[in-house]
Amino acid sequence: MTRESAGGGFSRRQLLLGGAAAAGAGAATALGAEAAWRASAGGEASPAASVVASATTVGDAVVPFHGEHQAGIETTPQAHALFIALDLLDGVDGAALRRLMRILSDDAARLTRGEPALADSEPELALVPARLTVTFGFGPGFVARAGATAPSWLRPLPAFAIDRLQSAWSDGDLLIQLGADDPVTLAHAARMLLKDARAFGTVRWSQRGFRRAAGAEASGTTMRNLFGQVDGTVNPAPGSADFADVVWIGDGPRWLEGGTGMVLRRIAMDLDGWDRVDRPGREFAVGRRLDTGAPLTGEAEHDEPDFGAVSKLGFPVISEVSHLRRSRSDDPRERIFRRGYNYDDAPVGSSVSDAGLLFAAYQADVDLQFVPIQRRLDEADLLNEWTTPIGSAVFAIPPGCAEGGYVGETIV
Ligand code: HEM
Repeated sequence: MTRESAGGGFSRRQLLLGGAAAAGAGAATALGAEAAWRASAGGEASPAASVVASATTVGDAVVPFHGEHQAGIETTPQAHALFIALDLLDGVDGAALRRLMRILSDDAARLTRGEPALADSEPELALVPARLTVTFGFGPGFVARAGATAPSWLRPLPAFAIDRLQSAWSDGDLLIQLGADDPVTLAHAARMLLKDARAFGTVRWSQRGFRRAAGAEASGTTMRNLFGQVDGTVNPAPGSADFADVVWIGDGPRWLEGGTGMVLRRIAMDLDGWDRVDRPGREFAVGRRLDTGAPLTGEAEHDEPDFGAVSKLGFPVISEVSHLRRSRSDDPRERIFRRGYNYDDAPVGSSVSDAGLLFAAYQADVDLQFVPIQRRLDEADLLNEWTTPIGSAVFAIPPGCAEGGYVGETIV
């Protein structure tokens, strides 16, 4: 079941743009807005009108905030993401956390509908929902202050030899994960939420990520990371029973049932070093082709890799230390849902880039699912030559809430 829609009726913005004529056209969706416009104009839309109308297909799309699970995980990834972690101020207790989560949930419910938050300082910026999602996650500090039992995996990951972690990109008490197909929408929503949170906590880190713009590629196209690799091919399919098994918590602390565990790793990618590797070398490191994303033993992206295939010289075609081989477990429980974003910040020193991946992974049990994969990659993975984890955080993502409720109501 998909939670997304292109809007079941007119948003305020459509009414502002389309006026009474468009409203009179009846039950139009965002996709129908252009047709309504044409009808009201008595024929062909003017070029300017059709530009405005077609823009609404991206801007007016709404992902419901309320539901059994929080939005922003099973949601088809939006073009832009912002992950923010807060440190709670001293003295913020369970009662304060309840107030905080009520306020933030109310803001998120309004903003994701394309409505201003209460006392919105720039209400016009709120009128383009653009599939905005707001997802809240709790770090160990939040759960301790709530006086609840944390799942055993809710703590910093074990240390890995490849890690060069910076505390400025790690840990945190409260995660606010935002996604939207429009960066202005995202910036405005983040500002409104942070203004309401500032009496309770301070921003520890904020990480911005991106994928291709909405509509730039056919829907369903697997994303590419900044190495140019097709990244995200083997992943549980959102909406499937398999996804539910891998991601949603069915059996854990009661307050987390219907939630999930999240790991966010900030992984620097050495694009300058990658520049010095030829195409066969790049493909060998992952075990997949760069053009199609197909395994080196196959033709198409979703072909099954043949790890037994050998070259004329008798060497495995897909290296045993390729990222593909090392990240795949023979144990079906060791699977995760990856929903990463590229980052590309201002270059430092003589390098021409400071880029990488905001590697976001969701799984019901971080220790049983994520950690063994990361451990294998830590032991051996050709990709490690060009990738360095520099940030790491683990959060418990509580279940969603119904209209009138708030995220976190199961714990505070
Ligand atoms: C910057 C760092 C990384 C890059 C550039 C990267 C890139 C890739 C690429 C290109 C693929 C193959 C296509 C696909 O199935 O998506 C892949 C697969 C995969 N990666 Fe990574 N990855 C990175 C880090 C990680 C980390 C940290 C983990 C987990 C700890 C991980 C787990 C996986 C898994 C589970 C697969 C699917 C394996 C399978 O075929 O069963 N990756 N990655």
